[in-house]
Amino acid sequence: MTDHASPGKLAVVTGANTGLGFETAKELVRQGYRVVIAARNPDKGHAAVAKLSAESPGANSRFEPLDLDSLASVRSFAARLRASESSLDLLINNAGILALPTRELTQEGFERQLGVNYLGHFLLTSLLLPLLLASSAPRVVQLSSLAHRGGRIDFDDLHGERHYDPWRAYRQSKLAMLLFSQSLQQLSEAEGWSLMSVAAHPGLSRTALFEHGVTSRGMTGRLFRLAMPFISQNATEGARPTLFAATANDVRAGDYIGPAGFAETRGAPKNAYIGSNARDPAVAEQLWRHSCDLTGAIWHTT
Ligand SMILES: NC(=O)c1ccc[n+]([C@@H]2O[C@H](COP(=O)([O-])OP(=O)(O)OC[C@H]3O[C@@H](n4cnc5c(N)ncnc54)[C@H](OP(=O)(O)O)[C@@H]3O)[C@@H](O)[C@H]2O)c1
Repeated sequence: MTDHASPGKLAVVTGANTGLGFETAKELVRQGYRVVIAARNPDKGHAAVAKLSAESPGANSRFEPLDLDSLASVRSFAARLRASESSLDLLINNAGILALPTRELTQEGFERQLGVNYLGHFLLTSLLLPLLLASSAPRVVQLSSLAHRGGRIDFDDLHGERHYDPWRAYRQSKLAMLLFSQSLQQLSEAEGWSLMSVAAHPGLSRTALFEHGVTSRGMTGRLFRLAMPFISQNATEGARPTLFAATANDVRAGDYIGPAGFAETRGAPKNAYIGSNARDPAVAEQLWRHSCDLTGAIWHTT
């Protein structure tokens, strides 16, 4: 799994202060990557760097503030990275939130799950493109989910203004990540870039993701707390598809990696099922155009 690694390569992992992002960062520093812990909370970000150093002596990581709730924060993060680094080998768009009970908005007024899980990452990737293309074999990994399968991009009500449902919004955001991954790979091929775009999902993994939103409340919360130990894997195991997508030599451009076990909920990494809703080129193209309009993303190579 470690074929792509080499000492000194640079990786950015969003939401790396905890959960799957932290486990991903931990393995990458172990493989010799320099890892940027991109997180919204400075205390948590610095604590993650300290924990990495304690658990992996010699770990080369640093915290950089990134709040995907704000496109200004995304732009500022990208500007700082571009000023301090000459190339970027790995971008792992991992940060996410799940099933907020009521409709919330990002600073730009996007429905928050779409904004944080997808639109912020869309802009971030476009802004880091020149750094990525300065690497000899750059990869971008998008975190999707089993939930993408029931998703639909509702172009008439993208931000849930007319009708908001916590799961519908989450499914839409994770479908958007999978469509984005494929569109980015197509763009890379069309432009003759060396950039490889891959998506991954962790099955069901025990992280803080379920401690907020509807999965932490009422009957749904009780059911999740009861069932999770039996139907899920831990965060270290959950990070394996991401790490495979990021570093394995036998990953192909455009792949979607998930766990091989029961119904893709857990187990070793393998190629995952891509729903028919994530294989519609017209939807992918329309989403790309909307995302450029909403975020102001321009896919400049320099
Ligand atoms: N766990 C699963 O079973 C599962 C299943 C399918 C997909 N996923 C996906 O896997 C990814 C990682 O989730 P996880 O399970 O590791 O959850 P987690 O433990 O809750 O971690 C989520 C990370 O995202 C960060 N984050 C949230 N909002 C942010 C914002 N506005 N700006 C920057 N960072 C923000 C969190 O920061 P704070 O600590 O500050 O909140 C945290 O670092 C997510 O994209 C999720 O959708 C997880």
